[in-house]
Amino acid sequence: MGMGVVSSLGLGSLASLGSLGLGGRSTSGASATSASSVASVASLGITGSLPLHSTVTGVSSGLSAGSREIVLQLLRIVNLLVTENVSFLESFCLIGGIPVVMGFTSKRFPSECRLEASNFIRLLCHTSVLTLQMFISCRGLKVLVDLLDEDCSSASQAPLVAHALNGVSSVFDLQSPTTKNDFCRMFVREGLLEPLSGALLNVMANVNTTFDGKRKTHDSLDGLRGVEDWREEENVDGAGLEGGMKMKIIRILLVFSQVSQSDSYVRHAVGTRKVIRRLLRACELLEPECLVLMLKAVKHLSMNISLLDVLQNANTIEILVRILEEQASSLHSTEMSNHIFQTCFNLCRLNKSRQEEAAQAGIIPCLQRVAETQSPLKQFALPILCDMASAGKSCRMLLWQHDGLSMYLRLLEDPYFQVSALESILSWLQDEPARVEDELMRPTAIRSVLDCFVTSKANSFENLLELFLKLTRISSRITTAFSRSAAFFRKVADRLGHNTKPVVRLNLLRILKFVCDAHPNRGILVERYGSGGGLLGVLEGLSRGGGDGVVLIRELAKEIIQVLRPGLKPLPGGSRVGSRGVTPKRMRRTASETSAVTVGVAAGGSVLTGKKPSSSTGASKIISTRPKTRLKDIPWQGTQ
Ligand SMILES: *[C@@H]1O[C@H](CO)[C@@H](O)[C@H](O)[C@H]1NC(C)=O
Ligand SMILES: *[C@@H]1O[C@H](CO)[C@@H](O)[C@H](O)[C@H]1NC(C)=O
Ligand SMILES: *[C@@H]1O[C@H](CO)[C@@H](O)[C@H](O)[C@H]1NC(C)=O
Ligand SMILES: *[C@@H]1O[C@H](CO)[C@@H](O)[C@H](O)[C@H]1NC(C)=O
Repeated sequence: MGMGVVSSLGLGSLASLGSLGLGGRSTSGASATSASSVASVASLGITGSLPLHSTVTGVSSGLSAGSREIVLQLLRIVNLLVTENVSFLESFCLIGGIPVVMGFTSKRFPSECRLEASNFIRLLCHTSVLTLQMFISCRGLKVLVDLLDEDCSSASQAPLVAHALNGVSSVFDLQSPTTKNDFCRMFVREGLLEPLSGALLNVMANVNTTFDGKRKTHDSLDGLRGVEDWREEENVDGAGLEGGMKMKIIRILLVFSQVSQSDSYVRHAVGTRKVIRRLLRACELLEPECLVLMLKAVKHLSMNISLLDVLQNANTIEILVRILEEQASSLHSTEMSNHIFQTCFNLCRLNKSRQEEAAQAGIIPCLQRVAETQSPLKQFALPILCDMASAGKSCRMLLWQHDGLSMYLRLLEDPYFQVSALESILSWLQDEPARVEDELMRPTAIRSVLDCFVTSKANSFENLLELFLKLTRISSRITTAFSRSAAFFRKVADRLGHNTKPVVRLNLLRILKFVCDAHPNRGILVERYGSGGGLLGVLEGLSRGGGDGVVLIRELAKEIIQVLRPGLKPLPGGSRVGSRGVTPKRMRRTASETSAVTVGVAAGGSVLTGKKPSSSTGASKIISTRPKTRLKDIPWQGTQ
């Protein structure tokens, strides 16, 4: 189209369009003739048969006049000229064309003008790196933000929004020394996030009215030419167009959410109540393809603790859990769950009130489904599940409903989660002693607990010991159940004999002491596990200083030997009766942690037995008599 004319028009005259920006003030009587001559330039320009000289004069005279009509026609000419010829566009920019044309996107001008100007901007953003860079350096980002802040439900303004969105996308796609972070900050400074998030909701709400209802075809120089262009560019129908815009907005939001992880300035801007609420509202409405990306953005936002409150206040937990349920069979369900579980993990970590909220929103069965698979999502689901046990009454109620205790018991088999699972069980037991103890006393349950003790490996075992100690301290019935397990004693003997870490030995001995104390018939214990190189042999070794000479270990081992062999009781104590007044020994015993532990037993035991006076077997009896037995057994207290 008329390239000869294009080149002959002369850049200088076009660039002086700048005076048009002021043209509104001109009331020159010449404007009518100027307008018609510009119009003829425009139409002749298309045909390519315009004499060079008159073209230049025509444009020039139009510049000084500047009525609306003239401005519009000139902008169209500019667009025509620069559309086909990149080097022409670049030259036009270099001599100062960008700020001039950009000015016509302002709300002061009629929408046809703004549309032409925004078409020019579209060209700047998509034609070459150079034009885009020049556009940005002319403070183009601000113009993009202003254009985005239009009502995309109006047919005349929707293209402005679309051009702005495409422009923002191009800026982020630009390969340049300027990082995405910098562009995010620049956009934040221009106030992009509010109009951007608003546009997302508008686009979704207006799909039917605007884009489906009012499609028109017009000739190229008609007022809606821009609309046509823009539709052809997307090459899709109304719904697809809306989808395209949505996707663009979401991709931009994703960039911001990514950057916000490391940039607190950007994070602050994204993390406003208004923006976050809009994003989550969008999550409720989006279809799967877009939703996946949006969930990813929300996940990024949840990475920093400073946004968790605002996310929570925007109902994030409830919305995410609902999506988890609704999209369970969607094509993208794996990826969605991935984002959602990580987000929930970030939200719920270390915060009971959020754990409670998640439980009430119905997250427990969703987590349990993952827990039973081999999915890598377990690493997010299981910690949340394990935390639930200590997150308050309503959480526990829901755990009961979903058989949470059995789940924890199954988790005891998992080397990576057995410690957390046992912690959960303990915490639950402490909060609801009677009911949980009853459950734990079921044969399968107690077997799971014992198996965990017997089969767990090195590091895990050491971490578990503290918890088992607590368990034996809290529940005498469970402790009694331990004392019936040969495997338990074998494991204790084995670990006592091999592990040289004093703290491990001490914990083992303390547990052993509780278990032996709890056994209704200690004589049998000796018969079964005591003889030869078995438990008793190991204990005797330790009592003679085999435990690296640690005093506590030696003393504790002696105490247990006494429990196991009541008949031999006087032997170790016999000599001490005489030395009762010897202070060092006495002090050593008083300082030993074993006394403290025993007090703990009595207290813990009586909590349980107090609540369940009718509880079976001899457990409660043993607990209540234990302190007495112990007092009698201690020779240095003078009971002999
Ligand atoms: C593009 O415009 C330049 C002037 O800026 C001119 O020299 C060149 O011939 C034009 N190219 C075409 C293909 O018209
Ligand atoms: C859009 O139209 C479809 C049917 O064409 C309808 O199901 C949907 O509810 C409409 N959406 C809105 C926001 O009006
Ligand atoms: C969260 O943000 C704070 C301050 O904005 C920052 O100091 C901290 O390192 C961030 N934490 C993470 C995990 O990124
Ligand atoms: C947990 O979340 C609540 C809001 O539900 C908040 O007020 C509280 O500060 C959070 N606690 C911690 C430890 O982050």
